[in-house]
Amino acid sequence: MDLDQRVVIVTGGSSGIGAHIVSDLLENNAQVIVADIQLPDAANRATGVDYRLCDITDRTSFKKFVDDVYHQYQRIDGLVNNAGVNRARLLVDYYSETPQYKLSNDDFDFMVRVNQKGPFICTQEGEYPFRGRHRRICYSATKAAVHGFTLSWAKELGEFCIRVVGVAPGINEPTPMGDAKHREALAYTRGIKTTNIDEDYSQKIPLGRQGKLDEIANLVTCLLSDKSSYITGTIINITGGKSRG
Ligand SMILES: NC(=O)c1ccc[n+]([C@@H]2O[C@H](COP(=O)([O-])OP(=O)(O)OC[C@H]3O[C@@H](n4cnc5c(N)ncnc54)[C@H](O)[C@@H]3O)[C@@H](O)[C@H]2O)c1
Repeated sequence: MDLDQRVVIVTGGSSGIGAHIVSDLLENNAQVIVADIQLPDAANRATGVDYRLCDITDRTSFKKFVDDVYHQYQRIDGLVNNAGVNRARLLVDYYSETPQYKLSNDDFDFMVRVNQKGPFICTQEGEYPFRGRHRRICYSATKAAVHGFTLSWAKELGEFCIRVVGVAPGINEPTPMGDAKHREALAYTRGIKTTNIDEDYSQKIPLGRQGKLDEIANLVTCLLSDKSSYITGTIINITGGKSRG
């Protein structure tokens, strides 16, 4: 899948799924520029990647980032809106034990700002899942909004030969998003102990295992290549067959 030095921006490319997307794009000969609020340690940086500090929720900062990238590379071929955040929160604190896990204004604003406003700013300046599970009410809503953006932006940008595709992963190998703090909040919202948070996915996922981050990266690379030249305005689930909901 030779991307032939195409210039691709990956938001949130310093860790987790984004870092795997970056590696896969590199292997396929792309020029990758990462926009992230944190940079990997020198030892963990992929050779050849152009890492830049940038907050995707700050329009001025992202606009300058894009201007600088364009000035340096004279083209931008792809944007991967990967950066995202999650705070496991309940709409109502059914257990009445840990009030900080009830969705607050700050939680709401934080997730909407990064997950929903971020892709809007990045897509505008650079050129889901409808899971109604109560504990993810805000996170799901931000992803559902991105789903809507994908469909409408594909219609608007198609005449300029710009494709817009969503990638919706399911349950995957752990990333920093699922750190100890998140697991504690998630366990609370499920009404279980943190020690019981790891589920037996062999029964719950048709393919019998969690997704690998590299599998998500492979899909993103394929979507950025000419092999996907007629794919736009759709969301591709990569879930091992686990249905939403
Ligand atoms: N991990 C999963 O299983 C899973 C499943 C479905 C969807 N997703 C989505 O995949 C994406 C990546 O998730 P992950 O698990 O790799 O998370 P992660 O926490 O490991 O990585 C997210 C990256 O985004 C960066 N980031 C956060 N806010 C930013 C901002 N304002 N500006 C720039 N960068 C910012 C972080 O610094 C981090 O490097 C997210 O959009 C997430 O919602 C993840």
